[in-house]
Amino acid sequence: MDDLARAVRLLREGNLVAFPTETVYGLGADAANPEALAKIFAAKGRPADHPLIVHLPDAGHLDRWARDVPEAARRLAAAFWPGPLTLILRKAPGVPELVTGGQDTVGVRIPGHPLALQLLRAFGAGIAAPSANRFGRISPTTAQHVRDELGDRVALVLDGGACQVGIESTILDLSATAPRILRPGRVSPSALASVLGAWPVTGAAADGPRVSGSLEAHYAPTTPLELVTADGLIFAVREALARDERLGVLSCLARPLGDERLSWRQVPTEPDGFARELYAALRELDLAGCSRIVVQAPPASEAWAAINDRLRRAVAGSGEKK
Ligand code: TXA
Ligand code: MG
Repeated sequence: MDDLARAVRLLREGNLVAFPTETVYGLGADAANPEALAKIFAAKGRPADHPLIVHLPDAGHLDRWARDVPEAARRLAAAFWPGPLTLILRKAPGVPELVTGGQDTVGVRIPGHPLALQLLRAFGAGIAAPSANRFGRISPTTAQHVRDELGDRVALVLDGGACQVGIESTILDLSATAPRILRPGRVSPSALASVLGAWPVTGAAADGPRVSGSLEAHYAPTTPLELVTADGLIFAVREALARDERLGVLSCLARPLGDERLSWRQVPTEPDGFARELYAALRELDLAGCSRIVVQAPPASEAWAAINDRLRRAVAGSGEKK
């Protein structure tokens, strides 16, 4: 039996299967099976009131999970699916509590990765999947990251190579009156506005749905992490060398000629490439035995908004031994 057939069988039997998407790897379970869903929360150490995204094989499955689907959702689905956009809609009757976190909304998307689509089509139904990391940690962008995070807590890891987008999907809440971005991602506010015909609001409403991806401390390495300017970077390097400390550096600048005490990861200067490499770079630096990691802060423009969001949260949660 090939891996895809095994994956489908494992899902049908209520087991967990990790699979690649274009954003990050997901930890999948049959979205209609509460016992299987419970295994996701156990494997991740995730609180049960954090809702899960349901991944769909095609837009024809939308009405099984959502009701009162607004016209805007159908237009966005046609424009961006398969792709890195999650829509929050009013939930249909019968959606398991563990999927919705007890709320009256459901998150859905069709992922833009050939292996994910093959899996979904062969399974023929919704697969609930959070990012395949332990709760609060950096999302995995390779199959090896998933194995490192979850080991034998997952029955099978489908290997689809390194994720092309590298950071989690944009989450757009369409369940309330004004469209609202709950989590920035590759699909930008201006791209959404071009389909919606109006600019979406950014940030969660005080009384809106809970989004664990919007917790201050998230996506975090255990090594203390700081955002610095280019000057701050030079200062941090000098200071580390003077103190004989190992420093981790993530920067679009090239590594200065070899000093063994610097763990240096050079990342692309444009946002898509930066996002693609970000989590793998943070993971690698986190394992390098550094006393701290400094990240050269990207520009503050819209193109970098999703990356700056993840970096800010990574800084907030860093340095905690979990
Ligand atoms: O790119 C992605 O979205 C990846 C891949 C695997 O699809 N998934 C992902 O899942 O990032 P997760 O669970 O790590 O983050 C999903 C976020 C969580 O912050 C969750 O709270 C929020 O989506 N979410 C899910 N359903 C929701 C709902 N009904 N209302 C509000 N937020 C919801
Ligand atoms: Mg996550």
